[in-house]
Amino acid sequence: MGRKLVIVMVGLPARGKSTMARKLGRTLELDGIRVRIFNNGELRRQLDTNANTSSSEFFSPANVQGREMREQISRMNIEKAQAFLADGGEVAIMDASNVTRERRQTIAAAFPGVPLCCLECLNADEEALEANLERKARLKEFRHLPPEKALESFVKRIAYYESISEPLDTEPNRILVDSFDSCILQEQITEVLPYYDRIRDIITTRVVRNLFLVRHGETVYNREDRIGGDSELTDKGLEQAKALAEHFATVRIPIIFTSNYTRTLQTASPIAERQDPCSIIALPEFNEIHAGVCEGMTYEEIRQKMPHVAKARGPNKYRYVYPGGEGYKTMEERVHRGLKKVFFLNNYDENIMIVGHRAVNRMILSSFLSRQEEEIPYIYMPQDCYYHIQVDPHKRIFELIAYRNVTSGW
Ligand code: F6P
Repeated sequence: MGRKLVIVMVGLPARGKSTMARKLGRTLELDGIRVRIFNNGELRRQLDTNANTSSSEFFSPANVQGREMREQISRMNIEKAQAFLADGGEVAIMDASNVTRERRQTIAAAFPGVPLCCLECLNADEEALEANLERKARLKEFRHLPPEKALESFVKRIAYYESISEPLDTEPNRILVDSFDSCILQEQITEVLPYYDRIRDIITTRVVRNLFLVRHGETVYNREDRIGGDSELTDKGLEQAKALAEHFATVRIPIIFTSNYTRTLQTASPIAERQDPCSIIALPEFNEIHAGVCEGMTYEEIRQKMPHVAKARGPNKYRYVYPGGEGYKTMEERVHRGLKKVFFLNNYDENIMIVGHRAVNRMILSSFLSRQEEEIPYIYMPQDCYYHIQVDPHKRIFELIAYRNVTSGW
């Protein structure tokens, strides 16, 4: 059996195609396979000397010049992929919308004798799609436009693609993937495809290159041992945020995910300021456990005034739910949903940072560590260290790293 394969990504813009392509490319590479991604959008941006290909009208099917340039870019990438495969390359990933049958047939005809697999990405999660559109509208190619205009232009571009889109049906090998949930929705494979078992494994497995899991700096409530609330960072907390910013100044962090609370936003903001560019995305899914009737109380006050709470929570901390609030168990679903958003939105970048809270970070860490339920609410989550997490099919690494600035006073 030959070992060459062409993967044709298919799908409307902002459906997670490039993230999936990078995840496939990177993991196959780790397996020792010679793989390369040919991305039409990147090539268009490189060739675009007068920056007018980001306008929605460039993508209008009625724009003959625009259409010709997009076809030309596709041909250029096909030629590069042909050369790559002829020179010992094994897997070529054609990363573009490829929404028309004609385009897919052109690609198939360009690789005689090499099996071709169409991989369509869709995302039925409205919230994640919206967040992804907003993220895209902040990209460099829209910098000349105010954010609402950029979003409008991008939405119009998608509508143009939608108007010419044709479903996968006659293609002999096709997989439909939900890129938000990382699951295979449909597949039809009519020949033996090299690497196919591995490809299915990669599609459905979470791969994390570098996740920096940070807890917010010290707050007024932390100092008083109070739980919940939305208090601000203390001077020491602000120093910790500055030290974090210094620590990560030479590490590229394109997006920092936080909760909606002041303390995570205050911690993330100096880190973002030292990066170029970096956006902060606040996700309600990462808000700290809600302690219901105990919000704002100290642990001592709970013991004194609500002994039944302290008594019931102690032996069963994971499953215990605060009256009128949450428990670790009941947070599970939302935190996992937040993580899915993170992986969908981060575009399979090298580095992801999450600035979260004690309980939320324990849940996030445990989703990689497979810890026993009863251990999770006791995972060490200090404020002068962060967790560095790397997970791929070849390894799983968790490191607790101190970022404390020895010259500062805390
Ligand atoms: O004390 C800070 C805090 O984030 C509280 O807001 C939260 O209730 C608590 O930690 C979670 O930790 P534990 O589950 O150990 O009480």
